[in-house]
Amino acid sequence: MHVERLSPAHDLARFCCGNKTLDDWLRHHGWENDRRDLSRSYVLIDEPATVVGYYSLTMGGVRKDRLPKRYGRGLPNYDIGMVLIARLAISSSHQGQGLGRDLMIDAIKRSERAGANAAARFLAVDPIDDAARAFYQRFGFRNIGGDPGGRMYLRLDEATALVDQRGERR
Ligand SMILES: CC(C)(COP(=O)(O)OP(=O)(O)OC[C@H]1O[C@@H](n2cnc3c(N)ncnc32)[C@H](O)[C@@H]1OP(=O)(O)O)[C@@H](O)C(=O)NCCC(=O)NCCS
Repeated sequence: MHVERLSPAHDLARFCCGNKTLDDWLRHHGWENDRRDLSRSYVLIDEPATVVGYYSLTMGGVRKDRLPKRYGRGLPNYDIGMVLIARLAISSSHQGQGLGRDLMIDAIKRSERAGANAAARFLAVDPIDDAARAFYQRFGFRNIGGDPGGRMYLRLDEATALVDQRGERR
């Protein structure tokens, strides 16, 4: 398996992760958004050419009062750079095999490179439901105080350290 940037050549018709919103977005908006520089999407390919997962990234900014308290301390009062993992999904037939974790690690590494070039301090995710929230919590993402249904954050250097640790254990 490998990860590559989404292109019009990918066959997305059979991609099904159990969440129609995420399936439809990939099929109908993934490439169009990439073409317009609104987001970049990356697909996980099961050889030779089956798309079994994807995630999308975009850059953003966040004010310190929108961050978990611990993260906001000492920061200036303007938008702080972040990378948003806007969506991440694994096809139903391939879930539970560690591929979601692999894709998450790939997304963190890619975010780290973006952050190194354009100064991103945080990684953010928009969980689509409680199960997704639980999945992201396993990677250390935190709720913003008082907003348990919304965006979650992890400091990018903490995410990178986590990936490095996991790599060492392999
Ligand atoms: C959430 C999702 C990406 C997980 O992918 P997956 O390939 O099944 O997950 P993995 O097998 O890689 O699991 C990685 C770890 O997360 C845990 N995990 C997986 N799904 C979980 C969930 N819903 N809640 C809590 N933990 C979860 C696994 O037990 C595993 O733990 P471990 O590190 O201790 O072994 C996948 O179920 C999915 O695409 N769901 C539908 C779409 C979705 O909710 N996307 C996420 C938000 S937009």
